[in-house]
Amino acid sequence: MTRIEFAASREAVGPDALVVFVGEGGQLSAGARAVEEAGQGQLGRAMKTARFTGKKGKLVEILAPAGLSASRVIVAGVGDPAKADARCFEDLGGQLAGKLEKLESRFLADFTDIGDLGVGLDVAAAHFAHGADLRNWRNDTYRTRLKDEQKAKLETVALAGAPAAAKPLVARLEKVAAGVAFAKTLISEPGNIVYPESFVERCRAALEPLGVSVTVLDEGELKALGAGALLGVAQGSARPPRLLALEWNGTGNPGATPFVVVGKGVTFDSGGISLKPGAGMEDMKWDMGGAGAAAGAMMALAGRQAKARVVVVCGLVENMPDGKAQRPGDVVTSMSGQTIEVINTDAEGRLVLCDCFTWAQRTYKPKVMLDFATLTGAIIVSLAHHYAGVFSNSDSLWEKLDAAGKAVDDKVWRQPLSEPGGHYDQMIESAIADMKNVGSREGGSITAAQFLQRFVEPGVEWAHIDIAGAVWRPKGGALHDKGATGFGVRLIDQLVAAHFED
Ligand code: BES
Ligand code: MN
Ligand code: ZN
Repeated sequence: MTRIEFAASREAVGPDALVVFVGEGGQLSAGARAVEEAGQGQLGRAMKTARFTGKKGKLVEILAPAGLSASRVIVAGVGDPAKADARCFEDLGGQLAGKLEKLESRFLADFTDIGDLGVGLDVAAAHFAHGADLRNWRNDTYRTRLKDEQKAKLETVALAGAPAAAKPLVARLEKVAAGVAFAKTLISEPGNIVYPESFVERCRAALEPLGVSVTVLDEGELKALGAGALLGVAQGSARPPRLLALEWNGTGNPGATPFVVVGKGVTFDSGGISLKPGAGMEDMKWDMGGAGAAAGAMMALAGRQAKARVVVVCGLVENMPDGKAQRPGDVVTSMSGQTIEVINTDAEGRLVLCDCFTWAQRTYKPKVMLDFATLTGAIIVSLAHHYAGVFSNSDSLWEKLDAAGKAVDDKVWRQPLSEPGGHYDQMIESAIADMKNVGSREGGSITAAQFLQRFVEPGVEWAHIDIAGAVWRPKGGALHDKGATGFGVRLIDQLVAAHFED
């Protein structure tokens, strides 16, 4: 967690780094002018030497600046000030936190007189701090030999010249960032550390104190409920499965219609008997990314006391090959009663999710249900790591997701889905059971979604978000290092804030 301070003036920078803003065209903010004066023209010369014109995201750094207590000054370009929005400042905050994380324990950004922006100064300052907070996360738990200069040290971001109106916004966004950090931590943990039982314990420890109620179904209870699809996946693992339900009700009405989010929580996916190739198999620790995102969203919503009733249901299993593992060709009976021919044991996510859908719908009677899942490699072929694929039976739910995704930069792109019985749906017809768990290679993400749709009850608006690519990125960005992105946490929070909150 990053400490976010409201400083009285830029003098509060002390020995730390000072960030000042310059718009495209070189118009100096008050902070930049002060640096220019203190250094008798040093800033202007540095900007000229760097051929810096104030373009968005461009930085100029002056180390040990003349006439100032600060260790360094960073001039940050905001581009055309009239177009500078929350996203622009969020990205700048993230970029600076990434740059300074190992160099400074604190930096101060001066928002005094930075020109007429495309957004209020309160929003700009709050989102700048939020971007830094989001970016300032790492998991160094297992590095025991880090040298001092390799250790992260950034702790505090100070805002000078930010209006008091930014304070409640900062407070709200801090809760969201905490949820993103929680998701990243869960998701980046290896499979020997985070497995079904330990996932549950981590959620309990982090969420119960926030007022989230935690319900856990163990193997025996799942058996009694007839969760044959989920249990079929789990049966090859020495780790027993869990179904985890997290509930936050900030409405004051216990009977409020819940908004349900289901998460795929395969804590490690070896493929089972349809074993994956060895190269890259370690990436399958990310296969609980949907459950991680949903749990992170819970932390954000409960943390900021959202006036909504939200239920997260995580299907937690490990998919392993074993003498007891399910075989290709096995037929399992799902909790819904529908039977499934398991052609490929590596198409396990849908088997886990379908029983979660049935349990969630029977238990909570939602009108809207989302699921987040690292479901198919095919969605990475389609969209790379930049967008998540959305499959929905509702145009209006899709539109809400699209808008929320744009607002928080968790990008989503709609994918096609057939009506029940339509051409894509026919691709999972089985010769022996009600359906099979894979189609052909073609359209692999779509047939996975068609499978899930068969478990959505009439009248429920549903969207499946395939985050196999988005959960993890091979390269760092403004708001995350390479690795876990926390994708989905902000999307869910924003969607709830915009549409499912009183
Ligand atoms: N967890 C994988 C999907 C995945 C692949 C996520 C790569 C992230 C990166 C899923 O369980 C899976 O194995 N899907 C198969 C489906 C196939 C057997 C129909 C896939 O995508 O290859
Ligand atoms: Mn798999
Ligand atoms: Zn999987």
